[in-house]
Amino acid sequence: MKKVGVRLAVALVLLFAARVVSAQEASRSSSWTKSTTSGEGQPRGYVQYQNYCSMCHGEGPGKPGTLALQAKYKGAEPALLDKRTDLTPQLVKTFVRNGVSIMPFFRKTEISDADLDAIAAYLTRNNKQ
Ligand code: HEC
Repeated sequence: MKKVGVRLAVALVLLFAARVVSAQEASRSSSWTKSTTSGEGQPRGYVQYQNYCSMCHGEGPGKPGTLALQAKYKGAEPALLDKRTDLTPQLVKTFVRNGVSIMPFFRKTEISDADLDAIAAYLTRNNKQ
């Protein structure tokens, strides 16, 4: 009888530990803390956009960039930056180097000029010529 109690206690402890671990894993893979995308076979601008911008400008609930642009344009332009066709490379670079509202500015030591060129090219890829 005593043994059963001990086993039950051990099982409960293990169950609890497993839940803590899986909760940690879930939070580690949240969109705010996600690790660098592998980006294998993807253009550089896409990869850097995923790494530096999509946590705010991506799809899904609670993305402050997407929410702000939804409120700003009210459907006149897509709320998702990577669906826009009206951005120019110069405008993208100005916002990234200066920031706006809660969007931080990014230094050249964070996003190099070459990476920013690639992001700007990615975000203007669907523009009409
Ligand atoms: C911390 C969240 C956050 C991150 C990270 C972020 N942005 Fe933003 N961004 C915003 C918000 C919020 C706005 C809208 C500000 C406003 O006008 O109210 C915005 C606005 C913009 C705009 C202006 C769009 C328009 O039509 O007004 C551009 C361009 C832009 N971001 C590009 C980027 C790029 C490129 C990156 C990655 C290098 C990036 N942002 C990273 C939050 C973010």
